Amino acid sequence: MWPDLIKKSKEGGLDAIETYVFWNAHEPTRRQYDFSGNLDLVRFIKTVQAEGLYVVLRIGPYVCAEWNYGGFPVWLHNMPGIELRTANDVFMNEMQNFTTLIVDMMRQENLFASQGGPIIIAQIENEYGNVMSPYGAAGKAYLDWCASMADSLHVGVPWIMCQQSDAPKPMINTCNGWYCDSFTPNNPNSPKMWTENWTGWFKSWGGKDPHRTAEDVAFSVARFFQTGGTFQNYYMYHGGTNFGRTAGGPYITTSYDYDAPLDEFGNLNQPKWGHLKQLHEVLHSTEETITHGNITTIDYHNSVTATIYATEKGSSCFLGNANSTSDATIDLHGTKYTVPAWSVSILPDCQNVAYNTAKVKTQTSVMIKKKNQAEDEPSSLKWSWRPENTDRTVILGKGHIQTGQLLDQKAAANDASDYLWYMTSVHLKKDDPIWSRDMSLRVNGSGQILHAYVNGKYLGSQWAKYGVFSDVFEKNIKLKLGHNLISLLSSTVGLANYGPKFDLIQAGIPGPVELVGRKGDESIIKDLSAHKWSYKVGLHGLENKLYSLDSPQASKWQEHDLPTNRMMTWYKTTFKAPLGKDPVVLDMDGMGKGVAWVNGHSIGRYWPSFLAEEDGCSIEACDYRGPYDNNKCVTNCGKPTQRWYHVPRSFMENDVNNLILFEEFGGNPARVNFQTITVGSVSGSGIEGDTIELSCQGQTISAIEFASFGDPQGTTGSFVRGTCEGSKDALSIIQKACVGKETCKIEVSKDVFGSINCDSSIVNTLTVEALC
Ligand code: GAL
Repeated sequence: MWPDLIKKSKEGGLDAIETYVFWNAHEPTRRQYDFSGNLDLVRFIKTVQAEGLYVVLRIGPYVCAEWNYGGFPVWLHNMPGIELRTANDVFMNEMQNFTTLIVDMMRQENLFASQGGPIIIAQIENEYGNVMSPYGAAGKAYLDWCASMADSLHVGVPWIMCQQSDAPKPMINTCNGWYCDSFTPNNPNSPKMWTENWTGWFKSWGGKDPHRTAEDVAFSVARFFQTGGTFQNYYMYHGGTNFGRTAGGPYITTSYDYDAPLDEFGNLNQPKWGHLKQLHEVLHSTEETITHGNITTIDYHNSVTATIYATEKGSSCFLGNANSTSDATIDLHGTKYTVPAWSVSILPDCQNVAYNTAKVKTQTSVMIKKKNQAEDEPSSLKWSWRPENTDRTVILGKGHIQTGQLLDQKAAANDASDYLWYMTSVHLKKDDPIWSRDMSLRVNGSGQILHAYVNGKYLGSQWAKYGVFSDVFEKNIKLKLGHNLISLLSSTVGLANYGPKFDLIQAGIPGPVELVGRKGDESIIKDLSAHKWSYKVGLHGLENKLYSLDSPQASKWQEHDLPTNRMMTWYKTTFKAPLGKDPVVLDMDGMGKGVAWVNGHSIGRYWPSFLAEEDGCSIEACDYRGPYDNNKCVTNCGKPTQRWYHVPRSFMENDVNNLILFEEFGGNPARVNFQTITVGSVSGSGIEGDTIELSCQGQTISAIEFASFGDPQGTTGSFVRGTCEGSKDALSIIQKACVGKETCKIEVSKDVFGSINCDSSIVNTLTVEALC
């Protein structure tokens, strides 16, 4: 997907692509590196270069990014004597080793701008300033070391550190956030730079879909450049998908769409992509003046300001209104300009308004899902199945490792799998103080998923959600006299990626694990934490690579008695690749939680049964005015957090493909099917003098749903005519101009749509909605 995404980024007006480097992906095992296939960093940077764009390389190597363990390989955690992100020789040696490796790799390929390459900026660490104080003096020493280590690599381009208000020279402190206009770097000679302008927000299992409006993103960018900003990067411009086990959190979803200008599938998220593209064009047109001009700011009070950048050759002006409710009229050099609330107008020549952040002139596209045209799904999908073999763990309690304590999952499993079995046995005699009719098992967990079994029988499960790092599972149990087996399966949903000392947040079962016996008012506790525990990493089916066609056990699938709502079950089917080129999604409606593989490629964790919170969604259109945060403008309340899963076309063969599911909780595959994503309808509005451009992005416009020149009302999908209308038939004019075409342009004027008798307070507007 890289070339297409990079091309669309360039078309969107970007000058550079910023990317993190994921240490755990490139050094999965200590000193064994992987830069193959999609991990080929050099190829990625050269692809960006070939498109004529620059690169900002955020080496980190701690990256956060809602990525498993913030990008740290878990083997780091397991090195003797190590402490992460602080002045610790073991850690610093590993960090220096990886950072140097990346820098050398770039240098060898002449990729730094100082060598004629595309990399103009490099980053060391990531937002350490946000978490530094708990590390005390050692934190400050580490930070200084990061700076001098990076500096000693002589990359020939500036190094940045984001959110680091004490960044030592020559490191440049940069800003991250939804707004950075009031940011000032600590060094007065540093440029004002913004490494992460959050275009939306990430999603967690059980969380709603965050959206940030195009108007507000544009406002934040224009304000940043009005207030002297020199570099601004979108986080994310394209967020994509957390395939495999890359999602962190814990509880970050597989989708990392982020409401970014290029959506999860690489489609244009309109109007955001286009509204920002226009902003970029206008900003580029002011480049000479805003980079060289003298700055004058006029304060009109009430958060209204004008900024004039002037050179001898000319000047550019920004008129800003940061008031969240009232529009402002600004008198600039004798001319009056109306600036809507929460917006910035840009006048490249200080006379004509070329752009206002609140006036969206780009079409809105509504994406739809279409059935797989290659076969009649879901009925064509013939499923076979097999149980996950849990006999050794649930009945026999056999593991690979044994110790007399509860281990952190990171230590026991070294991130080889989400799954770790903890097994212990308890011998009970009648005279044991806890022996009673009322006994329970209590497990102090880490907030990750837990499934408990006692004496071969399933007892129950528990899980938490994003932001919860400890929980308690307690359930009544029946034990027998003599030997009892307790088998606990911990299933992680990504490892923590953010916060002071996040790397020490426990995964799995920190304990204690207790048996509680109740006799009347008295509770007696038997702590099993220091018992002999056996551990088994992973699942039987994963070990035998059931997800792969080359599995030695590929034949043992059964076609009869297909179970539903059965825990720990593998399902398999074949499907025909959807026709065409549109992105493909797997609809997991009806399934519980697990992992899906297409032709052996993990498309990530699925969990459609985890519904998003009920509250907080509004049916009213989102108001772009006022400060944004990720609880504003959310959708998808009460629905599956994520029902559709991206299957890149590069994972699929042309004809028959293989789909394998591991279902952990129990589900029904009867409704599982593949769909394609495409533009369903497009709409746009403009006032007299504007030109509306509609595009079905590769398809042709098939019909015009709505067209009105006057004062049309409503929003996409529900437009209605207002009180007045042009004298000519707008619908047939637009049908003639657009139907059958991929793109059409319509000039909004009385010449085209006829005279109009609207009330004088009405701004004559053309609104069009077309089907693709
Ligand atoms: C920032 C961090 C990013 C990402 C973002 C939230 O603090 O630098 O990596 O985690 O928050 O999406």
